[in-house]
Amino acid sequence: MFDRQKINQTRKDFPMLNDREIYFDNAATTFKPHVVIDAVLEYYNNYSYNVGRGDYLKAYSVEQKVEEVRSLIADFINADKNEVIFTSGATESLNTIAFSYGLQYLKAGDVILTSLAEHASNILPWFKVAELVGASIEYVELDQYGDLSLENFKAAMHDKVKVVSLAAMTNVLGNVLPIKEIAKVTHDYGAIIVCDGAQSVAHNLVDVKDLDVDFLAFSGHKMLAPTGVGVIYAKYSILDKLQPFFQGGGSNSRYTQDGSLSYKKPPYKFENGTPPIEAILGFGAAIKYLNEQDFAKLIAYEQDLVNYFIEEMSKLDNVEIYNPNSTSGIVAFNIKGIFSQDVSTYLDTQGIQVRSGHHCSKLLNNVIKANDTVRASVYFYNTFEEVDRFVEVVSQTTLEKTINIFV
Ligand SMILES: Cc1ncc(COP(=O)(O)O)c(C=O)c1O
Repeated sequence: MFDRQKINQTRKDFPMLNDREIYFDNAATTFKPHVVIDAVLEYYNNYSYNVGRGDYLKAYSVEQKVEEVRSLIADFINADKNEVIFTSGATESLNTIAFSYGLQYLKAGDVILTSLAEHASNILPWFKVAELVGASIEYVELDQYGDLSLENFKAAMHDKVKVVSLAAMTNVLGNVLPIKEIAKVTHDYGAIIVCDGAQSVAHNLVDVKDLDVDFLAFSGHKMLAPTGVGVIYAKYSILDKLQPFFQGGGSNSRYTQDGSLSYKKPPYKFENGTPPIEAILGFGAAIKYLNEQDFAKLIAYEQDLVNYFIEEMSKLDNVEIYNPNSTSGIVAFNIKGIFSQDVSTYLDTQGIQVRSGHHCSKLLNNVIKANDTVRASVYFYNTFEEVDRFVEVVSQTTLEKTINIFV
């Protein structure tokens, strides 16, 4: 277990962390340790060549570094190296999956099963694909805490469902879904499962072979890496037969004037154009950092922190919590009688950074009966002292104080 002393030491690795401000918006993006920033700078200072093009040794050595990162990421989620495709982030990954798989395999009458707790990036691409092929979207019923049970999932499954697309950890309430069991049921019906891992890969040990998901999408920036890089994981057997939706330099082995085209093997047939090389190298440094710190221990520490956070917040009379059973790094709440955005603006004046609003999940409001929420989200570098300070400030936040900042 990480002790509190060790976390204070770890915090020194992050130039953005300080004792004056409390950063509780980690579900939006995380801060970067020095090693990640250094990896980006090193690329620009010493070898900022393109990859996949140059016939000179230095360009080739950058290509090797990018491939090393692919292997690191594959090991991190227990995939094979050629099942890891670089994208610009979870949003591009989910769009690429929906349009590649959906346009190739879905047809009129098919059903895409998802939930009202999904991020827009995991729902809007399916809306579009459904419209294009004549498929329809259905939703698994959620409980009052926005949670999706295996029982409700089973009740929602039927023979017309061809794609199940769900987040392993949702972004407003941080609900953790039984993805392994959901994948099993999905496959029993002959459908495929797309897993949005934007939140889960950053906070959980993810083993794609054990979960048996067909696709997994995630972003680097929510797990210490730079912005601009993400991943599609997919089973090689699926990638091998899948036609890439995007076209361009890099993915093809040859094409002719009359339009005939042959692709490279996966993962390269899904990677077009110049990738975000510096971000990929930064992603590699982030994974190495997480491995060195022992990711499992970081998760255990974060879990203790979240339990404490929920426990302390539950003691406050002026607060309504929407995920009292949260096991993730997210606490979703409102201060009674105060608009969520006014709360976050006020907290900012107290040196506390959180997010408020719909959090890109605009279908959840009816389920939790709240138009918007304040979302405080921690990462392993946050401390119990920060939670104490946060709870104290929230307990003393009044309508009057939030109004006064505008006058
Ligand atoms: C569950 C979930 N899915 C998808 C996304 C989209 O990620 P990105 O903005 O990195 O593309 C997010 C971002 O907050 C998310 O939380």
